[in-house]
Amino acid sequence: MTLKTVLKSVLRRAGYAVYAIPKAGGERRGDYAYAEAHPNATLAPWLTDDDFMQAFEVAKSNTLVDIYRLHELWSLVAETDKAGGDIVEVGVWRGGSGCLMAKKAQLMGANSTVWLCDTFSGVVKAGDQDSYYRGGEHSDTSEAVVSDLAARLGLNNIKTLTGIFPDDTGAQLDASAVRLLHIDVDVYQSARDTVDYLWDRMPSGAAIVFDDYGFVGCEGVTRYADSLRERQDLTYLHNLNGHAVLVKR
Ligand SMILES: C[S@@+](CC[C@H](N)C(=O)[O-])C[C@H]1O[C@@H](n2cnc3c(N)ncnc32)[C@H](O)[C@@H]1O
Repeated sequence: MTLKTVLKSVLRRAGYAVYAIPKAGGERRGDYAYAEAHPNATLAPWLTDDDFMQAFEVAKSNTLVDIYRLHELWSLVAETDKAGGDIVEVGVWRGGSGCLMAKKAQLMGANSTVWLCDTFSGVVKAGDQDSYYRGGEHSDTSEAVVSDLAARLGLNNIKTLTGIFPDDTGAQLDASAVRLLHIDVDVYQSARDTVDYLWDRMPSGAAIVFDDYGFVGCEGVTRYADSLRERQDLTYLHNLNGHAVLVKR
């Protein structure tokens, strides 16, 4: 075993991934091409959103998600309000992205429960479609870590479901409609099972966000999200922040 392999394996167990930066101009890796994307636009709406920035300061050390994707989730809580229903996150880890969505919903006075679903023992269902994840990554968290963050943000609208979603906890998700579904599970099968389980409960105007879509090492999620593009009952957007966003028609 080389030093590089040992290091990668230690970091993987600690929940970190190390990838070579794509060559200047981009490069092909397997089925997909990767490049560092630096769009020319400079509008930064998160900087003038005081509520967001305040909540972000509290939540930022509990999340792996960057400010660009977090602010998009925050905005989608408002955008999907007219569709009606609850908000679900599968893949919570230490609660940062899920609690920020809950904070926005609470500030708006939205009549939505925010369901936070995680094994709290790491990634599951890694398989042939997945290039990096093997299972067990991101186990360095607990339900208590998330409750602590929720208390610091003053949340009163979250419910936490502990176990594999939907296999163990789907039946406890007592929501007749889901208007926003944030999927941050890293691997193909968990992403697919989540959509299969909840799609019929999503009203017109509801959105699904795949956090992992644009990231090397998450090709299983990229492949699954791409497979949904053929459907006639949704509109599909790839945001260069890494999200794939699907809006149900
Ligand atoms: C990258 S982390 C989530 C990051 C989080 N959204 C944040 O704000 O940083 C992925 C999480 O997905 C969870 N997970 C993966 N598949 C799952 C499944 N089928 N059911 C429940 N949790 C799952 C793992 O336990 C892990 O905590």
